[in-house]
Amino acid sequence: MQDKTHLVDEITGHRRMRRNRKADWTRRLVQENRLTVDDLIWPIFVVPGTGIVHPIPAMPGVNRMSVDKAVEAAKEAADLGIPAIATFPDIEMELRDETGSNSLVANNLINQTTAAIKKAVANIGIITDVALDPFTSHGHDGILRDGEIVNDETVDQVVKAAILQADAGADIIAPSEMMDGRIGAIRRGLDAAGHQSVGIMSYATKFSSGFYGPYREAINTKGLLKGDKNSYYINPANGTEAVRDAALDVEEGADMLMVKPGLAYLDICWRVKEAFGLPTFAYQVSGEYSQIKAAAMNGWIDGERIMMETLLAFKRAGCDGILTYFAPEVAKILAKR
Ligand code: PBG
Repeated sequence: MQDKTHLVDEITGHRRMRRNRKADWTRRLVQENRLTVDDLIWPIFVVPGTGIVHPIPAMPGVNRMSVDKAVEAAKEAADLGIPAIATFPDIEMELRDETGSNSLVANNLINQTTAAIKKAVANIGIITDVALDPFTSHGHDGILRDGEIVNDETVDQVVKAAILQADAGADIIAPSEMMDGRIGAIRRGLDAAGHQSVGIMSYATKFSSGFYGPYREAINTKGLLKGDKNSYYINPANGTEAVRDAALDVEEGADMLMVKPGLAYLDICWRVKEAFGLPTFAYQVSGEYSQIKAAAMNGWIDGERIMMETLLAFKRAGCDGILTYFAPEVAKILAKR
């Protein structure tokens, strides 16, 4: 009964949103988006050696692993039902040079990792990045000449690196270095090398962001990086430009698109998904992960709750999945539900 002494008017009284929220069963019934283990891609860090599992201080709960341990981790991920992992190498400083030449060594660390995982683990996808930053002595994603990151020369090298990664067994090549024309060039290169079934997940909209800080510690590019990446990553102020950049990647043959970082760019996730309808992924990057972990470790937030809430937000924003360092932790929680 409407109590006439209250200020809520009659129209409001007929339209009560809270009816659908009144019990657990109604809430479950009307829930629009769900996070499942199938939405997860797990980025991992690999180091040379054997038997190594080294914690990364700036990313509590994340380790650098030697290839043998990465294989174990991939097995664990497959057992948890995680569909794919993304690998990032932290190679010896002596191997890093001006042009990132180690990216063109067939059995380099990244390719060793792929081959070893492919041999030992049946049901997991491997996504590899072709940016040059883990291989360069200056921490940039491309070749540096006279203070400039040269586009076309970098693309030529990235294509060669992509073919070697595919030769080693990579299922999806994910170029993150944001050079112009890379997607088409990689597609042609892969096809010419007989890798028609190897896909491309474009880091289509990669912003020049402060959220990558802990990652640079993880692969030891932090002290190396001279200047910034503003001449090739997208200005965080520009949404329309980001959509145009993604459009080029779609034209050039990308199979999947990525938005990076994630949470601060949910509008881009939505726009990209709406505009192209391609499978769209968000990368919840290192800084996003570490913020949540740090606040949770201080007892300031409920870490698990916020982890789940942020991941669900990506689904609501139209993403088909999320690259997240939380993947195994989340998968374990989802398995219990
Ligand atoms: C560079 C690259 C970056 C990340 C992965 N590959 C950004 C950067 O260092 O500029 C960031 C990932 C993260 O922060 O989790 N190609």
